[in-house]
Amino acid sequence: MNIDILLGLQWGDEGKGKIVDALSPVYDVIARFQGGPNAGHSLEFNNIKHVLHLIPSGIFHPDKLNVIGNGVVIDPAVFKKEIEELGPPLNELTQRLVISNKANLILPSHRILDAAYELHKGNSKIGSTLKGIGPAYTDKTSRNGLRVGDILRKNFRQIYDDHVNDHMTILKSYNFKFDIKEYENEWFEGLELLKKFPIINTEYLINHLARDGKRILAEGAQGTMLDVDFGSYPFVTSSNTISAGACVGLGVSPRLIGDIFGIFKAYCTRVGCGPFPTELFDDTGANLRKLGHEFGATTGRPRRCGWLDLPAMKYSIMVNGINKLFMTKADVMSGFKTIKICTSYKIYGEICEELPFNNEIHVEPIYTELEGWEEDITGFREFKDLPAALKRFIEFIENQVGVPVKMVSVGPDREETIFRN
Ligand code: GDP
Ligand code: IMO
Ligand code: MG
Repeated sequence: MNIDILLGLQWGDEGKGKIVDALSPVYDVIARFQGGPNAGHSLEFNNIKHVLHLIPSGIFHPDKLNVIGNGVVIDPAVFKKEIEELGPPLNELTQRLVISNKANLILPSHRILDAAYELHKGNSKIGSTLKGIGPAYTDKTSRNGLRVGDILRKNFRQIYDDHVNDHMTILKSYNFKFDIKEYENEWFEGLELLKKFPIINTEYLINHLARDGKRILAEGAQGTMLDVDFGSYPFVTSSNTISAGACVGLGVSPRLIGDIFGIFKAYCTRVGCGPFPTELFDDTGANLRKLGHEFGATTGRPRRCGWLDLPAMKYSIMVNGINKLFMTKADVMSGFKTIKICTSYKIYGEICEELPFNNEIHVEPIYTELEGWEEDITGFREFKDLPAALKRFIEFIENQVGVPVKMVSVGPDREETIFRN
């Protein structure tokens, strides 16, 4: 069981990039299995912050292999920009990163469709990152997608034009102005860069490496509450962000899966539209946003902030089979006199813990209030040194959800991480 999975338990941005980077030394391979440029995974070392969108967060470790799996959707223009901003020279990166020939491509026209659909939805819009994710996955499932392996075909340009023409036909029924040309140029430049990387059957590679005893970390994007089946539909992304998505998005058997790490913030954030029962509209919410620098890593949008939601977390733990929890950003709440945790919901006057079917059902969060801690914890490196009130906060969560917190992140830097036996 050589494949572990790390994924978000909330609405994304839990700190996956930072933790994958911090864990990378104990793995041989880091693999992305779903999502695409909608993701923004930040990591920090030597006082430099990097934000990754498509590239796995193990890329800064020279001796690790990074894989973009078949479940990911790739925009070559975003890929090019990201590769150019990384730092290491191209001839090193082409040794460290391989791409599945089965990953679907996001075409420039997918981005336009995404924007046209969102505009058309008006008040019921999703709040998409507008990276073309929904239309690209739609084409994949309706068997109209173009895959990375297709770019090596001689008549690729013709196939591409046919696909774009189909999209243009759809766009005619939307009153939407656009110019595809400029982005198309960047896109085709990206395609040339993509061709310099190994484009292979990554499912063979990963299975062979796992069989040979290599350790693989599957890196989730988005979060469980954005899963297309189990998230707050329709305010979700278009892929399966849960642990089962790793098997589909990499081509590995569930029998090869070992640990399933669930990462959560000590509070909650959400960017985009959709239900958020514990959202705070007051000064506390504004403080969390300010102190936690809660602005989207991909779009720069302010993130909505609220208290930790345990019914949502229990649900996420259940559908993923989480056996170890990682907690981030408790440092942001240092100095808060009291901290609230939602332990159940009141729906139509009844106390319950089940998530409602949709956002037409009004949910009132029921809170438990815990004492906060004063100390700045960013300098701590041992669990035993953490403030007693923070330990009580952690113990309360563990008792409620029945899964141990095995790592506490106390800052954005890779060093600001406390592992616990
Ligand atoms: P991801 O999408 O899950 O990788 O998370 P993002 O990178 O979008 O957002 C997490 C943000 O919190 C980033 O700016 C990180 O640098 C930062 N971060 C991660 N862990 C911690 C932590 O423990 N404390 C603080 N203060 N910031 C953190
Ligand atoms: P990481 O990997 C937070 C949200 C969008 C929107 C919804 C659908 O950084 O945690 P999409 O672009 O997929 O059509 O958007 O999902 N969303 C994210 N929110 N973190 C992300 O990724 C997200 N990726 C998508 O804001 O509400
Ligand atoms: Mg993010």
